Amino acid sequence: MKFLVLHGPNLNLLGRREPEIYGALTLAAVDRLIRDHARLRGVRVECRQSNLEGQLIDWLHGAEREAFDGVVLNPGAFTHYSIAVRDAVAAIDVPVVEVHLSNIHAREPWRHASVIAGVARGQVLGFGPVSYLLGLDALIAVEGVTRENRRAPGGAPRPPGGAPRAAPTRRTRTARAARR
Ligand code: DQA
Repeated sequence: MKFLVLHGPNLNLLGRREPEIYGALTLAAVDRLIRDHARLRGVRVECRQSNLEGQLIDWLHGAEREAFDGVVLNPGAFTHYSIAVRDAVAAIDVPVVEVHLSNIHAREPWRHASVIAGVARGQVLGFGPVSYLLGLDALIAVEGVTRENRRAPGGAPRPPGGAPRAAPTRRTRTARAARR
């Protein structure tokens, strides 16, 4: 499995940007944590950062072409107003988990809204850099269940706790159609 981690605007300044909110780790240190975690889990990960909306959108579009199994996305301030990033997330079949270092619901009221949340596979927020690790774990679990479903024709084991199956993607829909 291979996953893409995208950091949005201003996250290149981690470590010196409002450390009381975002912590003391630099982006390079956060990326090291993510890579170490991925190694532990036996998956591949690639981390990218951009301050540009269009670049993030291009990377989201490319996620399918580049055969990523999922994207961990911290859209930064684009979270709160970028319909273009939202539409890019909605346009791709690769599952996207929205993550935030801070708990956006405990901050200024205008940060409480995310235009991305409704099209993301899920959200993890408020755990500092651990949000990225939990987001990655969620994607690994979702992809694991999806693969399990593909292997088990006519019915699939559900994850413990009766959690819903992974949302069907174009790939799972095609696999299901082929089995009929
Ligand atoms: C952030 C929260 C956003 O509101 C903010 O604009 C960021 C970082 C976070 O990770 O907590 O740039 O996404």
